Amino acid sequence: MGKVEREHGLALSSYKQPCLRRRLAVRMRARGVHGYAAYALLLDRMPDEYDLLLDALTINVTRFFRNPEAFALLRERVVPRLWAGAGPVTVWSAGCASGEEPYSIALLFAERARIGALNARLRIDATDLDPGVLEALRRAEYPAAAVEHVPPALLERFFTPGPPYRLDPVLARTVHPLVHDLTREPPPQPPYRLIVCRNVVIYFDRPTQERLFSRFADALAPGGLLMLGKVETLFGPARARFELEEPRERLFRLR
Ligand SMILES: C[S@@+](CC[C@H](N)C(=O)[O-])C[C@H]1O[C@@H](n2cnc3c(N)ncnc32)[C@H](O)[C@@H]1O
Repeated sequence: MGKVEREHGLALSSYKQPCLRRRLAVRMRARGVHGYAAYALLLDRMPDEYDLLLDALTINVTRFFRNPEAFALLRERVVPRLWAGAGPVTVWSAGCASGEEPYSIALLFAERARIGALNARLRIDATDLDPGVLEALRRAEYPAAAVEHVPPALLERFFTPGPPYRLDPVLARTVHPLVHDLTREPPPQPPYRLIVCRNVVIYFDRPTQERLFSRFADALAPGGLLMLGKVETLFGPARARFELEEPRERLFRLR
């Protein structure tokens, strides 16, 4: 770490140590290297990795309804379609960070259905590599900045007044947290009707992304939907298995 600070001016020591170690572990796993020494060598060889490491230090940045246009699309076109059918509605929020993304999806369903019906039919698997962020997800308490984009009616109905704003524990029960490494582990409980994986694959190298996209395709029910982050692209062998449903919001439908 000292080497990185001296040579590259990253103020690593100004970060909390457990957080920093978790972040470095995320990057080392994404690159498949073991140990700080090996990682330092990789940093020397691959200048791009510095940017990714920097990003990694803020990697768990998220908020409710992040990129509101993506959630508008889910609200208007996706959630009604999923809820209209019969049977279980299975969703996977992959790389869910501290829960704002899966809980935002739960809120979109809560707008349309009674909470009892939701608990009977809706299951949102929320997975992340980082156990620390899943602890925050379980607490389901958020500062004002995190809930800034929550529509006021939903904020009033499903949160206790804050800060911290606490999500309705009954609604929170539709979200099932699990520590899970997207680069190594198979999807937790397929088939899914919707997989949302935003602002995560960008940290992985190309072969890892391609493998992951194929896994997503395998894990979707026929006609199932995949949403990536705004700057992420679907490529590789899995691309041919999807129709482009909405280019701006990176929404794809399994053929
Ligand atoms: C920038 S956040 C994205 C949160 C949310 N999806 C959003 O867009 O608001 C990226 C998350 O991916 C997680 N992550 C990084 N590598 C991962 C991996 N190999 N498997 C699962 N999650 C990973 C990080 O821990 C972090 O919480």
